[in-house]
Amino acid sequence: MTQTVVNVQNVKKVFGKRNENQFHALNGVSFQIKEGEFVGVMGPSGAGKTTLLNVVSTLDQATGGLIEIAGSNITNMKQSHLSDFRSKKLGFIFQDFNLLENLTIYENIALPLSLQGVSSRQIKPSVQEVAKKLGIEGILEKYPATVSGGQKQRAAAARALVHEPAIILADEPTGALDSKNAKSLMEAMTHLNHNHNVSIMLVTHDPFSASYCDRILFIQDGELYKEIQRDGTRSEFHQSILHVLAEFASAEEE
Ligand SMILES: Nc1ncnc2c1ncn2[C@@H]1O[C@H](COP(=O)(O)OP(=O)(O)O)[C@@H](O)[C@H]1O
Ligand SMILES: [Mg+2]
Repeated sequence: MTQTVVNVQNVKKVFGKRNENQFHALNGVSFQIKEGEFVGVMGPSGAGKTTLLNVVSTLDQATGGLIEIAGSNITNMKQSHLSDFRSKKLGFIFQDFNLLENLTIYENIALPLSLQGVSSRQIKPSVQEVAKKLGIEGILEKYPATVSGGQKQRAAAARALVHEPAIILADEPTGALDSKNAKSLMEAMTHLNHNHNVSIMLVTHDPFSASYCDRILFIQDGELYKEIQRDGTRSEFHQSILHVLAEFASAEEE
């Protein structure tokens, strides 16, 4: 039976203190992500996508509802436990790569393991394996400044994966890439998903990147608006995504 990696039930997020101007960014969102699923999150700007990713990724706290990741309830976990949980169970890819310029690509990828105190003897085969999966074995001794944007983002993906997290969380990972590098990153992520059963939650406003997902959750005004599942080719799915985005656009014009 396929395991549930992420279980989100009736999650709410309110910004601002009581008696002040409060903003309801998430109004009761529920969904699940199964092991090995590649799920996209889309919606208009300000819909609550980043807020949703932040509460799932433990970087921010939900105001209400339940979030379980790999069987652990993170909504009642203590801060001290959370940082440990985050570093062991989650992998992050951000728009701006977040690579450390003073470390080589190898050292950057090794970072999640070095921070956990894993010995360098054990780190080496893990870094080499993940670099191979992402096709960046040849640049491990280079510094970030000397490689392309696409290679940097693959290095960031390798770093997100090196400690074998339960899920990879990505917020607009192709946002700073040109279309060629965006395509190669999405292909690399699809490869990880298909061949290595890596579970991925991807926030994106880019329909092309989203077309690589198995399923898309569309959110609007902090609520789940619609969910679509890919059942044909990628270009058919791309068309279906564009249709939903057109619904949003026409709603805005009304
Ligand atoms: N720290 C915050 N304090 C107050 N409002 C916030 C904060 N973060 C986000 N918001 C508001 O919540 C809404 C959703 O933001 P966000 O999740 O970043 O949207 P998206 O990623 O879909 O563009 C926006 O209206 C934003 O202004
Ligand atoms: Mg956002």
